[in-house]
Amino acid sequence: MLELRNVSKSYRNQQILTDISLEIREREMVSIMGKSGAGKSTLLAVMAGLVRPDSGQVFFGGSNISDLDEEKLAAFRLQHIGFIFQDFKLLPSLTVHDNIMLGIYPRRDIPSAEKEKRIRDFAGHVGLTVKLAEKVDNLSGGEKQRVAIARSLVNRPGLVLADEPTGNLDSSTAQDIMALFRKLHETLDTTFLIITHDLDIASFTQKTFTLKDGGLTP
Ligand SMILES: Nc1ncnc2c1ncn2[C@@H]1O[C@H](COP(=O)(O)OP(=O)(O)O)[C@@H](O)[C@H]1O
Ligand SMILES: [Mg+2]
Repeated sequence: MLELRNVSKSYRNQQILTDISLEIREREMVSIMGKSGAGKSTLLAVMAGLVRPDSGQVFFGGSNISDLDEEKLAAFRLQHIGFIFQDFKLLPSLTVHDNIMLGIYPRRDIPSAEKEKRIRDFAGHVGLTVKLAEKVDNLSGGEKQRVAIARSLVNRPGLVLADEPTGNLDSSTAQDIMALFRKLHETLDTTFLIITHDLDIASFTQKTFTLKDGGLTP
């Protein structure tokens, strides 16, 4: 579903990604490990078409997204990719419901009754039905990440990219979040790519790659 072919990227004279080729199949759950500064976030940004590689191509579902202009790339991301971040990137003064809504509100083709149903469904998937009316400010870190996970999924993207999703959580909450990813992966037709620097976290996924010195190894 996602394929990188001979992707390289440098910033100024610093080579970050060197001739990386990688294929992620439909419905896989994959992790990418690597130390801080190894280039994990850059690799994820290249996969999402947020950063253009200096050379090489990115294919999504068989089409080369490296050829798309900015407008088409934005439309592609909106339809196909969900994002999850270490710092949640929620709007804390809004409710759980309204934060999940952020993942689906730009879709004019979906009627609002269907949007409401999806918000309730995905709040249920992450165990937050009873907190739908709660302000995000009042939630624990683990609950905040659950909201962000529901927001990333409510638009039913084929691919979810999570950049250190457990980085701000204590280790027991981190394990709960990874168990949730595993359950969602079993339930939904979604491909998950999870970036982490923690081997315990990576062990929840089916396949792990390590990014080091610009190269990716299984
Ligand atoms: N937009 C940018 N401009 C210049 N250098 C960058 C930029 N983004 C990342 N870098 C550099 O690229 C390297 C890899 O960064 P990053 O991909 O964030 O690594 P990781 O996510 O593994 O910690 C770092 O040295 C970082 O400073
Ligand atoms: Mg990073």
